[in-house]
Amino acid sequence: MVNRRSVLVAGTLLAASARFPALAAAPSRQLTAAQESRIAALVAAMTLDEKLGQMTQIAGGRQIALNSRLDAAALDRVRAGQVGSFLHVAGAEPLLALQRVAVEESRLGIPLLFAMDVVHGYRTIFPVPLAMAASFDPDVARQASRVAAVESSVSGLHWTFAPMIDIARDARWGRVVEGAGEDPYLGARIAVAQIEGFQTADLDNPDAMLACAKHIGAYGAAIGGRDYDSAELSERTLRETYLAPFHAASHAGVGTMMTAFNDLAGVPTTGNADLVRGILRREWGYQGLVVSDWNAILELMAHGAAATPAEAAALALRASVDMDMTSDTYADHLGTAVAADPTLLPLVDEAVGRILAAKARLGLFDDPFRFGDAARERVVLGSAEHRAAARRAAQRSIVLLRNEGEVLPIAPGRRIALIGALADDASSTLGSWRARGRAEESVTLRQALGEAGNVDYISGAEPRSDDTSGIAAAVAAADRADVVVVALGEDYDYSGEARSRSDITLPGAQTALIEALRATGKPIVAVLMNGRPLALEDALADIPAVVETWFLGNESGHAIADVLLGRISPAGRLPMGIPRRSGQMPMFYAHPPTGRPANPDLAVDSARYRDVDIGPLFPFGHGLSYSRFAYSGLQVAAQDAGDAARYVVALNVRNTGTVAADEVVQLYVRAPVAGLARPVKELRGFARVPLAPGQSRRVTFMLGSDQFAHWDDGWKVAAGDVDIMVGSSSEDIRQTAMLTVPRSYALADGAMAGAALSTDVTIG
Ligand code: NOJ
Repeated sequence: MVNRRSVLVAGTLLAASARFPALAAAPSRQLTAAQESRIAALVAAMTLDEKLGQMTQIAGGRQIALNSRLDAAALDRVRAGQVGSFLHVAGAEPLLALQRVAVEESRLGIPLLFAMDVVHGYRTIFPVPLAMAASFDPDVARQASRVAAVESSVSGLHWTFAPMIDIARDARWGRVVEGAGEDPYLGARIAVAQIEGFQTADLDNPDAMLACAKHIGAYGAAIGGRDYDSAELSERTLRETYLAPFHAASHAGVGTMMTAFNDLAGVPTTGNADLVRGILRREWGYQGLVVSDWNAILELMAHGAAATPAEAAALALRASVDMDMTSDTYADHLGTAVAADPTLLPLVDEAVGRILAAKARLGLFDDPFRFGDAARERVVLGSAEHRAAARRAAQRSIVLLRNEGEVLPIAPGRRIALIGALADDASSTLGSWRARGRAEESVTLRQALGEAGNVDYISGAEPRSDDTSGIAAAVAAADRADVVVVALGEDYDYSGEARSRSDITLPGAQTALIEALRATGKPIVAVLMNGRPLALEDALADIPAVVETWFLGNESGHAIADVLLGRISPAGRLPMGIPRRSGQMPMFYAHPPTGRPANPDLAVDSARYRDVDIGPLFPFGHGLSYSRFAYSGLQVAAQDAGDAARYVVALNVRNTGTVAADEVVQLYVRAPVAGLARPVKELRGFARVPLAPGQSRRVTFMLGSDQFAHWDDGWKVAAGDVDIMVGSSSEDIRQTAMLTVPRSYALADGAMAGAALSTDVTIG
């Protein structure tokens, strides 16, 4: 169906396009000349109020009931052209009706954008993002996002506020659950895969949706892991670590980005012109839409960056924030700012142009009703095909942390005592951000193991309660069993936005529970369920088998049972190290060496805590298998081409065990001498390699010297040696080699470098 009104508007006002210069094509824009003209014509036809309307996003209601705020007042605002977008709305029928009001009853008939936080599924819920990163398989993230986009688009949504690609090195921060963990290289690969899944190759596809890389800045670096708090970083760390996934996302053509709530060295990101207008737009050439976070433009006053709402609006606009999420500061106060300073007007036009461009890329000017199909909605949501994809993703996200004495897999016929409230908590399987997911559609571990038979379930203890009265029954069940499976962790509401904790040990009576179970002497399998790494050194002492399962979505129970019972071999890897104690936070493997590296001998003064062993309990990249793997034949060859050399790193990996399994081969690099301290290891490639028993495959990584660049007031590559380390985790390096970068050189401004760049991998 073609929207006649907008076609007509564009046709009659075509001449105006000459006054609105076409922007250069960039992956985040990609419009045809006709679309550019249509946008220019519309911008020229709009009043200032209509422009500010396009720059305004209002909430449709989520807390009470979805769409609950779509009342008469909201519809009147749409008719008056005062709204460009709604968030927290969904459903084919209500959204088609709302779109009809915008298109048929507003002066210019500009279609609305409908947005929601569709983070790891819409109705079919996949593992939380941190879990999917643990798959070390970008295809898992791509497919989850694809399914989410198929389900969302049929329900009328155009835009998701995902992926969250903030690097997180402090597990006290509750939002670690939403991202891909501590590493910028892994983070960038997972981010790009999610963007590809949501947007497809062309946003014009009927089941594609706009992605939103968030929250640009250094949101994940909040001091003390306290959500919303300031970040204080060097430009080197900002560029090399926190911005790398954003640069990769920009390059991949992500349609939108969201600014972070927090300030960076005193400059709130929502008003940070150096970052958003400078680095993102000018340096990287990003032309997509930038939206503020919820109420963040008005909060520029609370930060102390602006004295009045009009000042806050001007600050955000100058920073190049195009759309105001929910604060109505643009709607109510940007007009005042423009009247006082007419130089803001061209910035308004640019912002509106980018918003209209996003609508055009989705094909909404050609057919504003192309999203949302109530009949298909009933068939597509939660389909068997989507559930199968969710189960596979869940299986691949599980990390086997410890398996002493081969307690796992549990042999058939063994009597299992299943203990812990989380094993029966359907709601927690959905994790943080659950869109239209339903707890009653989740399979819990209790249900899935129950299907296998021979299981005695006792809650024992709950994460939210200090009540220890159930522990005696749990111990009795353990005494009757051959093996104890105990679910431990946090429920879903402990992680997520505004869910920071100072102490990341097991909450409630769970510590008492595990102590009592340990005393039974039975073989114990601890199944961890959580949205963040927990500090578990004491809790897991002498527990022979430990499985990290995060929150795995609707198919949670099935996937965990598949691993526990040996139907599949686990192969996930930690995207964040697991600490021993809370006080180790922040912690990350890619730290500089220091002049006095951590030394086990306490008599030597070194960079360590005196009261805890050095390093994490389980390191970044760690994950075991039911099989074993041998590495051999590492070779490095250089292909020198001008400044930027290319390197081929190849090795053999062989399954020496007796079961089919995947091995995640990881490639780390380090420049031992670079004129400054470089991290002791940095991930620059990985491959999840499926191997039959006895099978050997050759894994070949192709990388370039730009990937060794460091930030030194610009990207520089230093001549000299680079250590190549290949292994099974950041601390299980199996083979090493060295290559030499022949010349020092500087990269051009805006060039992608370091972790943002992807390494090609082939598996022979
Ligand atoms: C606030 C969160 O920080 C952001 O990630 C989310 O997209 C918005 N609220 C909208 O729900």
